[in-house]
Amino acid sequence: MQTPSGHPVAATSPESTRQARLVVLASGGGSNLAALLAAHDDVAYGARVVGVVSDKPDAGALTLAQDAGVASVVVAPKDFTDRAAWNDGVAEAVAVFRPDYVVLAGFMRILAPSFVDRFAGRIVNTHPALLPSFPGAHGVRDALAHGVRVTGCTVHVVDSGVDTGPIIAQAAVPVADDDDEASLHERIKVAERALLVETVGRVAREGLRIEGRRAIVG
Ligand code: GAR
Repeated sequence: MQTPSGHPVAATSPESTRQARLVVLASGGGSNLAALLAAHDDVAYGARVVGVVSDKPDAGALTLAQDAGVASVVVAPKDFTDRAAWNDGVAEAVAVFRPDYVVLAGFMRILAPSFVDRFAGRIVNTHPALLPSFPGAHGVRDALAHGVRVTGCTVHVVDSGVDTGPIIAQAAVPVADDDDEASLHERIKVAERALLVETVGRVAREGLRIEGRRAIVG
């Protein structure tokens, strides 16, 4: 059974109307956040963005949150004495929203192991390359520079490494001969938004467990 927007209805018990609480961390324009916000009004989606946290006061993601009536908070490194204090500040800001899952959607800073431990197994990141290839802040640029013919996007569980956690889902995107970083990233982002919305919804509705290197939904 599906709702008009196409999301499967999991069950008919009152439990089924519970929406997992998502906190989204974003540093940039927030097109991935926008996609989650477009999905979350459908109760059958199973997840709702309850808070947005950014390290950048001018992040477009903050405007999107405000327009959607979602609480947001800026935790900027410059307001903290050091990285550890900033990291704790982000963890506190996230914890206030009592998240079931934390979604890193274009969050361009590394979170310390203490953050990862606090929300262990419940942090999901979207990355614009087919991990384990091209981790880090320049996944699109690095894939293009390497000359790959196919790249894509990855939704994975965050561990204490940089883009090293168990992979939940991936989508492939072909590289065109005339692609530059911007054109390729735009095409990846189309696939990425769909993958992120679909994957986060499945995780929220069905749960997530880790077995070794494998992230299993359901
Ligand atoms: C996305 O492509 C995301 O994968 C990437 O930033 C973009 C954010 O777009 N994240 C990384 O590169 C993290 N290493 P958005 O602000 O439009 O959602």
